[in-house]
Order: sequence, then C-alpha cells, then structure tokens
Amino acid sequence: MLAEKDCADCHGDDGLGDYDRPPIAGMNPQKHLKELMDYKTGKRIDENDDMDVADLTMQDMVDLAAYYATLPPPAKKK
Ligand code: HEC
Repeated sequence: MLAEKDCADCHGDDGLGDYDRPPIAGMNPQKHLKELMDYKTGKRIDENDDMDVADLTMQDMVDLAAYYATLPPPAKKK
C-alpha cells in the first residue's frame, strides 16, 4: 500500500510521526488532503524537502487522507 511504501518511513507505521515528523494519524481527511495539495502546489514549503508528493495523484492523496483518518490519533500532549 502507498502509505506503507511512501509515508511510513517518516511518519511511522502508526502515522504518529517522530521527533521531527508531525503525526498524521487521526487527522481530519479534508485537512490532510489540503495539506498534501499545498505541498504539491508549492503553497506550503517543507524546508527539508522531505515530503515527496510530486508523484502522488489526486486519487492517491484522497486515499491516503481517508486511510490515515482511520488510524487512532496521538494521545493528547501534556
Ligand atoms: C522523508 C520523510 C517524509 C515522507 C516520506 C513523508 N513525509 Fe509527510 N512530513 C514530513 C515532514 C518532515 C513534515 C513536516 C514538514 C513541514 O515542516 O511542513 C511532514 C508533514 C506532513 C503533513 C502535514 C502535517 C501537519 O500537521 O500539517 C502531512 C499531512 C503529511 N506529511 C503526510 C504525508 C503522507 C500522506 C506521506 C506519504 C505520501 C508523507 N507525508 C511522506 C516527512 C515526510
């Protein structure tokens, strides 16, 4: 699956991210899709150029947003 191949390296199998990658699990799918679109169109710049969204199709992004929305979100920060 695309999420495991393309996203899990950085955001983790559980989508919870790590010390310098944000969690994407449990994200509102509309917000998730918007963020991906913003990276793709260059509206949002990832300074380290980590987010390689150029190859993603619209359908991929919709599917990814829907998939991550099904994962449990991170526990609230204290
Ligand atoms: C090489 C590491 C890497 C890969 C691979 C990667 N990301 Fe990211 N992602 C990041 C980093 C780092 C950020 C934070 C960038 C920034 O400062 O804007 C980020 C940010 C995001 C955000 C914005 C989160 C927010 O809270 O606004 C979303 C959504 C996201 N990634 C989804 C994905 C998806 C879906 C994939 C798979 C297609 C993916 N990422 C692949 C490293 C990665």
